[in-house]
Amino acid sequence: MSNPEQQREHWSGNLGFVLAAAGSAIGLGNIWRFPYVTGEHGGGAFVLVFLVCVAVIGIPVMLCEISLGRHTQRNPVGAFHKLTPSSSTFAHLLGAGMIVAGLFLLVFRDWGWALICLGLGTAVFRYSWRMVGGMGVVAGFLILSFYSVVGGWTIGYVVEMLRVLFTGGAYGQEVFSDAASSGERFVNLVVSPVWSIVNHLVFMALCTGIVYAGVRGGIERAARVLMPLLLILLLALIVRGVSLPGAVEGIRFFLTPDFSQLGTESVLIAMGLAFFSLSLGMGAMITYGSYVERNQNLFTASLAVVGLDVLLALLAGLAIFPAVFAVGMEPTQGPGLVFVLLPTVFIGIPYGALWGLLFFVLLVVAAWTSGISLLEVVTAYFVDERGWTRPRAALTCGGIIAALGILSAVSVDADLTGWSYLGRLQRLITWCFGAAPGSFFDLVENVSSNWLLPLGGMLIALFVGWIWGTRQALEEIRHGSRNFGDVHVVSLLAGLKDDPSHNSPVHVLTLASVWGIFIRFISPLAVLLAFLHTIGWLFAG
Ligand code: PFF
Repeated sequence: MSNPEQQREHWSGNLGFVLAAAGSAIGLGNIWRFPYVTGEHGGGAFVLVFLVCVAVIGIPVMLCEISLGRHTQRNPVGAFHKLTPSSSTFAHLLGAGMIVAGLFLLVFRDWGWALICLGLGTAVFRYSWRMVGGMGVVAGFLILSFYSVVGGWTIGYVVEMLRVLFTGGAYGQEVFSDAASSGERFVNLVVSPVWSIVNHLVFMALCTGIVYAGVRGGIERAARVLMPLLLILLLALIVRGVSLPGAVEGIRFFLTPDFSQLGTESVLIAMGLAFFSLSLGMGAMITYGSYVERNQNLFTASLAVVGLDVLLALLAGLAIFPAVFAVGMEPTQGPGLVFVLLPTVFIGIPYGALWGLLFFVLLVVAAWTSGISLLEVVTAYFVDERGWTRPRAALTCGGIIAALGILSAVSVDADLTGWSYLGRLQRLITWCFGAAPGSFFDLVENVSSNWLLPLGGMLIALFVGWIWGTRQALEEIRHGSRNFGDVHVVSLLAGLKDDPSHNSPVHVLTLASVWGIFIRFISPLAVLLAFLHTIGWLFAG
């Protein structure tokens, strides 16, 4: 059924793994989604909530996923399958509870939710914790389907920049000279089905090609060269952005927390964004962890991946918000924010078309390395669990996701909130759930990143903390990072980590015990509170 460890491909080393995992984490989530969502939710306060989510939930869950992957050497479904006990009372109770709730909802004719509860309840009852892996595979399908539409937009903007370059700047002056005309151009492009679909399909073909080629040859090589280049270019953009007149307002917006701007939903969205940006909650890091050798240090690797990802998100914010205010744009633009803004900024600088071209090429690459990891989760499942060959799995999954993504690609209309061409689907969803807000694109984005990923992350932390067991997980982490577990937190903070007098054998407050408390209690509780807050059961404002 599953590949034994000896046959499994592995990363070339620690650096290879960190770069590939950072390649998965750093993507459109940092450079496209983080700025636009921060803009919509009031700036600084939202950034603070995002950072708290990364620290309280992101780091602990990252370590859970990577150690689960390396221990089992399997895809998410296989990993849960291997470690799930033959019977779990908790899962049976939860499943039965959901089925009962579903029956109640049927009585009240709440068809959509009833169906979801009945389906999920039956699955939880039947498959127990293995469900969590399955949820990850489903999330992979859904996320890549809209992710690749935005990936397609970035490819389309590479072409736009080439046009500016080949017309000696004339096309840029005509189309991108100010925020209003750049905005108009963006809308014209994304509502054109041909433009969206063709670019989306090209992006999917790029991802499928690499996953088809395999782990080390494809994924790792791409990440090694291109990630550092992206960092350098972002730094250049920051220098440009903050030197524009009026930029201070943007820095203030981004860095000064104003909690009155935080809406009820903002906490959930900040948490969803943390999961999305770190590629957590759906087993991408379980899958990547399964290609890590036993002698590598999982603790430092997790910290490095989280650190790099957050750094890139913050740098993207610093590059974008000063410029937003300088050119007089609204930060609440929505998904178009970076696509409308950046060409306008580039056009105003010497050799702007070249800079713009380079930037969008790198954005394509950042999106590509993340898209690859999404497809890899799905593909690894079919290879490991269903015995498919890698080419067959990559092509079939890539094809299905490409088809699903077409629905997202054509759903966007002029104000980016429509269901163009999908009227029937909208009516069906309205009939099931009472409303179909936003567009199909929004719906898939919202359900997958704000609900499925945090739910998956919560269950992963609970599973490692309570079912697999902190002790077993720690044993796995100790291969390659022996002292992680035993470092005394107080000694570490005091700079006395290696001081012999602090190396007493009876440490209680070690990094390992702090991590254990987080994954057993604090991280799952934080996710639960954010859910309850959003559905209005807690501090409803
Ligand atoms: N982390 C990616 C980004 O920030 O663009 C998106 C992503 C990749 C989410 C892989 C989830 C995932 F499993």
